[in-house]
Amino acid sequence: MKLLSFVFLIIGIFLMMFFNSSYDTQYTSYKTLKSQSQSKELKESIKRGNTVYSDFCVSCHLPNGNGVNKIYPPLANSDYLEANRYASIKGLKFGLKGKIKVNGVEYNKYMPPMGLSAEEIADVMNYMNHSWGNTFGKIVTVVEVSAIK
Ligand code: HEC
Repeated sequence: MKLLSFVFLIIGIFLMMFFNSSYDTQYTSYKTLKSQSQSKELKESIKRGNTVYSDFCVSCHLPNGNGVNKIYPPLANSDYLEANRYASIKGLKFGLKGKIKVNGVEYNKYMPPMGLSAEEIADVMNYMNHSWGNTFGKIVTVVEVSAIK
């Protein structure tokens, strides 16, 4: 009797291990699939954002995203951009003026709105968040940009 319950216990443990591992692999492959499709979406958005950046932003913030000290703030490694996702999107939609501090330097200038569509703003945000060594946050979507009034 004791031997029988021991055998059942062993079988039980094996069954648990089996189901656990197949669940794990299924879950992992679902997750990798999801992150792959996300990164494809992100990659394409970054590519479009690169074009928006060259057309509308490069003249002030420069190709390397370093800006011009005390006149045009940097985007590369910008603590402002990293911490102020909402305000950055809003600034691109409606313009940005007043005092801001970027990497310890104060700016009190004006960035005019450039008439970009929600998609162009999402794309250029994704471009900035993933260029010049920046790795800031998750993908910015058109829905997110459109919701900011
Ligand atoms: C005419 C020059 C000019 C152009 C063109 C311009 N900016 Fe700016 N940008 C500024 C100035 C000036 C500020 C700071 C505004 C302030 O002092 O409040 C700024 C601030 C910013 C900030 C927030 C501060 C930071 O450095 O993180 C972001 C993000 C930004 N710009 C992104 C862009 C993007 C993206 C484009 C193109 C779509 C663009 N800018 C085009 C002048 C410009």
